[in-house]
Amino acid sequence: MAFFLAVANRKGGVGKSTVAVMLAHSLAVQSNKRVLVIDLDSQCNASLILMGGQGWNEARKAGKTISDYFYDLFDGIPANARDYVVKNVGDVTLTNGKPAGVAVVPGSLLLEDIQGELYLKQANQSNNPDVVANRVRGRMESLIRRFEGDFDIVILDCPPGLSFAALAALKTADKIIVPFRPDYVSQLAVDRVALLIEDKRNLDDLAEIPLAQRRYTCVANYVRDDNKDYMMIEEISLVHPVLDTFLPQRNGIANAFDYIGKPQTIDAKYGDASGDVTELHNEVVRVMEETAKAKKEAAPAA
Ligand SMILES: Nc1ncnc2c1ncn2[C@@H]1O[C@H](COP(=O)(O)OP(=O)(O)OP(=O)(O)O)[C@@H](O)[C@H]1O
Ligand SMILES: [Mg+2]
Repeated sequence: MAFFLAVANRKGGVGKSTVAVMLAHSLAVQSNKRVLVIDLDSQCNASLILMGGQGWNEARKAGKTISDYFYDLFDGIPANARDYVVKNVGDVTLTNGKPAGVAVVPGSLLLEDIQGELYLKQANQSNNPDVVANRVRGRMESLIRRFEGDFDIVILDCPPGLSFAALAALKTADKIIVPFRPDYVSQLAVDRVALLIEDKRNLDDLAEIPLAQRRYTCVANYVRDDNKDYMMIEEISLVHPVLDTFLPQRNGIANAFDYIGKPQTIDAKYGDASGDVTELHNEVVRVMEETAKAKKEAAPAA
């Protein structure tokens, strides 16, 4: 059974796709896991980082994108979910030179339009907009879950907006990683996404859930070596769980955004940030293990 890890924040440009791909690469190489990235953002950045423009375009033409997947299977047509997965993507190799085991369900520019169409389809069956929205989201949740048998870890790269796909991802996820930049606006954005994830109306209600039991954990990104940034991280840590690892602003991270096409080691790919990648990987593995253990303990005995 796969572990579902969503990367989300309602703010744009905080490093969601960067962190999603960084974790996909490192979990495949350093933990030898079978990793699937599902690109739920119509900007398709995770797909472009993993496949390059040409690879993504070929998948799009072949009808192998997340929009095709949701659209084709929405009504329960027995198509094979595996048909929408592109294997051996990413330009990172294992230490033995073989491609790292990363796969992707590629993103689609049409995802928002398709979600609108699926909503209208469901609207024929009920006059209650909440019922319709819940059905669309619920169907997407079960379609996302379909991949759980084939992979160890499924990473859901979320868009900044509140699409049905993003809400489905937040519901499905065993853990949600929330990257943030240490600035005032980001702090408010973290509050907003946390309330959404934990389904609370305000920060007082949220505070009733101990930090260790939250469904999300934050990671500071774009951190400059400056007291203001460290103080902001401290402040956010009082209200939200925050990983000890933080990602500095680094050329290696910015450059890794570009698909090179030529297979290389993970250290070559991330350059001056390869230590950060390992540190993030190790802490996220610990968090996933703790989450899986807590879930097992909470499950009623069979
Ligand atoms: N630590 C970092 N150091 C340097 N550049 C970074 C760092 N983190 C992210 N970036 C760069 O910032 C830009 C935005 O990152 P990214 O696309 O991952 O954010 P996002 O939250 O997924 O954005 P969106 O909301 O648009 O999907 C990218 O160009 C990326 O290369
Ligand atoms: Mg993104």
